Amino acid sequence: MKLLHVAEGVEYGLLDETDVPHMVMLLAEAFSRFEPMAVAAKLPASQVAHMVAALAPKALAEQLTIVARLSAPESSRGPLVGVLLADDFGTAPPPGIEDVAPMFAPIGALLDGLDAQYRSATAVVPGTHAHLFMLGVAEHAGSRGIAGHLVASCLAQAQRRGYLMAVTEATGAVSQHVFRKVGFQHVATASYCDFSHEGQLVFSAITGVEGTMLMTRALGGAVL
Ligand SMILES: CC(C)(COP(=O)(O)OP(=O)(O)OC[C@H]1O[C@@H](n2cnc3c(N)ncnc32)[C@H](O)[C@@H]1OP(=O)(O)O)[C@@H](O)C(=O)NCCC(=O)NCCS
Repeated sequence: MKLLHVAEGVEYGLLDETDVPHMVMLLAEAFSRFEPMAVAAKLPASQVAHMVAALAPKALAEQLTIVARLSAPESSRGPLVGVLLADDFGTAPPPGIEDVAPMFAPIGALLDGLDAQYRSATAVVPGTHAHLFMLGVAEHAGSRGIAGHLVASCLAQAQRRGYLMAVTEATGAVSQHVFRKVGFQHVATASYCDFSHEGQLVFSAITGVEGTMLMTRALGGAVL
């Protein structure tokens, strides 16, 4: 990881090749156990892992993905405790991504519907919109501000790379709070109680949050 900033004993930096297996494991665990739609769809960790591994080459190339590691003595690396997998919203997803994790289909369909609403009103071309896609923090490192720092660090990186807007689909009450706190605004919601996939109300058991919120934030000015 290329170090970007340090806060409260945690180092935040750009994803590199050697971080990828750790990122895959962390996001697979965090999403399959705690992300509302993955839990409702009973998405196994193995399918999240396939999905993250398939997204990794694009994430590496686009240099927007941030990892968090506990600070460690010089010459050693602390364990990975958080990731924000981000990419360019204007470039194509990796080919064949929809076949990598078949049980991801209802989640993908909900997110695609929200994204289509945004794209119908806004020109999204490469290099303009940073997409903050999968945010995960290890359970043992939760509730100490790591997600907030990952988001802020990603916004600063996107700004350095010349992006103008940040876009996210925040799926739970905690992530919506985290994004709101760093200045994201609500654009549209896909309601969990109404959404159906192949005739099934797959997310209607989700409580405590109305739905996935598409949120955006203009880039410019200080974020860190
Ligand atoms: C969502 C997740 C990334 C949060 O990570 P974290 O490092 O614990 O988050 P932070 O400590 O930075 O911030 C948590 C904030 O949510 C607040 N919060 C906690 N429970 C909440 C709730 N039920 N409703 C609203 N806000 C809540 C906390 O008070 C804190 O806000 P504060 O800093 O203003 O006090 C983590 O729980 C996770 O990995 N979840 C599983 C994967 C997932 O759902 N990712 C989001 C997909 S978009």
